[in-house]
Amino acid sequence: MCGIIGCVGRGDDTLDTLLDGLDTLEYRGYDSAGVALANGSVQTAKQAGELDALREHLGDQSLSGTVGIGHTRWSTHGPPTDANAHPHCDCTGDVAVVHNGIIENYQELRDELAADHEFLSDTDTEVIPHLIEDALADHEPEAAVRATLDRLEGSFAIAVVIAGTDAIFAARQDSPLVLGIDDDATYLASDVPAFRVHTDRVVYLDDGQFVRLDADGYTVTDFDGTPRSSSVETVDWDPEATGKAGYDHFMLKEIHEQPRALRQCLQGRVDELAGEVTLDIDPEVNRVQFVACGTSYHAALYGAALFRAAGVPAQAFLAHEYAIQTPPIEDDLVVAVSQSGETADTLAAIREADRRGADTLALTNVVGSTMARECTDALFIRSGPEIGVAASKTFSAQLTAVNLLALATVGAGDEDVRELIGALRDLPANIQTVLDESDAREVAREYVDSESFFFIGRRYHHPVALEGALKLKEISYTHAEGFAAGELKHGTLALVTPDTPVFAVVTGDDEAARKTIGNVKEVEARGAPVIAVTDGESDVERYADAVLEVPSTHARTAAVLANVQLQLVAYHVANELGRSIDKPRNLAKSVTVE
Ligand code: AGP
Repeated sequence: MCGIIGCVGRGDDTLDTLLDGLDTLEYRGYDSAGVALANGSVQTAKQAGELDALREHLGDQSLSGTVGIGHTRWSTHGPPTDANAHPHCDCTGDVAVVHNGIIENYQELRDELAADHEFLSDTDTEVIPHLIEDALADHEPEAAVRATLDRLEGSFAIAVVIAGTDAIFAARQDSPLVLGIDDDATYLASDVPAFRVHTDRVVYLDDGQFVRLDADGYTVTDFDGTPRSSSVETVDWDPEATGKAGYDHFMLKEIHEQPRALRQCLQGRVDELAGEVTLDIDPEVNRVQFVACGTSYHAALYGAALFRAAGVPAQAFLAHEYAIQTPPIEDDLVVAVSQSGETADTLAAIREADRRGADTLALTNVVGSTMARECTDALFIRSGPEIGVAASKTFSAQLTAVNLLALATVGAGDEDVRELIGALRDLPANIQTVLDESDAREVAREYVDSESFFFIGRRYHHPVALEGALKLKEISYTHAEGFAAGELKHGTLALVTPDTPVFAVVTGDDEAARKTIGNVKEVEARGAPVIAVTDGESDVERYADAVLEVPSTHARTAAVLANVQLQLVAYHVANELGRSIDKPRNLAKSVTVE
């Protein structure tokens, strides 16, 4: 939610460095964008709309300054207008602030400041520069920012520039901030891609830390000035990983990256000969509670099913519900599934579990993320950066990683472990087959004008049905619902008509497949077009108007393959409709507010 960038030491390149950095942060929000550069004075430019609108607004004017900050916004307080875009300034225009998060006591602060300060926006953020303005009457700039932090309640990552001060002051409380360290410049951002083209050396800030960036480098303290240690880490992915590599959209590129992402996820963790999975974590697993949101929640549902299949009580919870109505925790391991590792709802759930004494595990893609650092253990899915707002490769990697977690800790119940490991090993190649041979584009073209879609699947294919519907809604803005196949007849069947295509995920020829085919017949009898996602093992094709084929494999891995077909359907429907696929309306990739 909102992306922040800052840099010191780029000289004449400061403005371009900020704009290029914001380009890579737009996945965090794209309602408006702005920059502020400072030396003797502070110059700002901001504009509603995506970053291109700001570039256009800037035209040929080149803001200059030795230090600079920038922001791309996902609106919380106030609509996406020029006035609500960050940076926000004080009355003198000498203090500029960018902020990610929510200042919970902003109304109280605004009421207090209103008599002496003019507010130009609806945002919670704007109280910060005005508080700094007041504090500057009695303090040096750095102390004024620290004094202001004492007044703020809520979650924030902020960056501040002040006229006449060749430094950026920044602080983190419940919103991510990371430093990039180069020989002649220092960067600050919500996420590494913002400066990865310049450096691979990073410092992840912790909650409660304050940093000063200036020509001499950086100093990290807590909010009251006590020095805090910080370690420099090296990121293990190349800057090219954040480009489109010739694809029209990041999402399409990321869908096609899945074979590689899954190879990375499996690498060094499976030994087929020995029939073993080895992870560099060894949590005690008696019972499991998964917490997650959105796509990651669908991976959590799938994960819980794996553990239950091994005889271990396991349940998946929507993180925001878990945080306010936490179930009894006995000796449960609480697993947070989160691509970003920064989702506020999931963090709140994990913190509540930790407060109640549970061991916690982050199953995440982002190595330096808050979840990875706060949980007792972390299992990384190793997908590389995912820029498209709609999760694709990371969902497949989450499904793969929960398989590894289950196999390494509790086994596979009645299933043959060697066979399962073989199926996991074959996944990258099987996904490649789906990508090479998919008819998803033709299916999308056939049904693109439908007003509503349904997705059904049983057991491991139920989360896939939910995910197929979410992906379609998210990027095509078309109504879609996913169901456990047996549930449709308990109400929703009333909505099924010849105008509502139903995607049915049916693989294998077991009892689950046969029962799902029964549900397929129910919708077919109501005239609905049926698109079967199948491996051809059953006779579901007899009842289908179209077929999306997947290679024959274990039911658990078939779920991953079926999902790839549904990703492609969602992508092509959205593309036919001309939607903003990588940046769907109203959304942001990393949801750092509750
Ligand atoms: C998925 O396409 C969405 N972007 C969204 O549902 C996402 O999965 C959810 O916000 C959770 O994010 P996380 O995995 O980073 O925690």
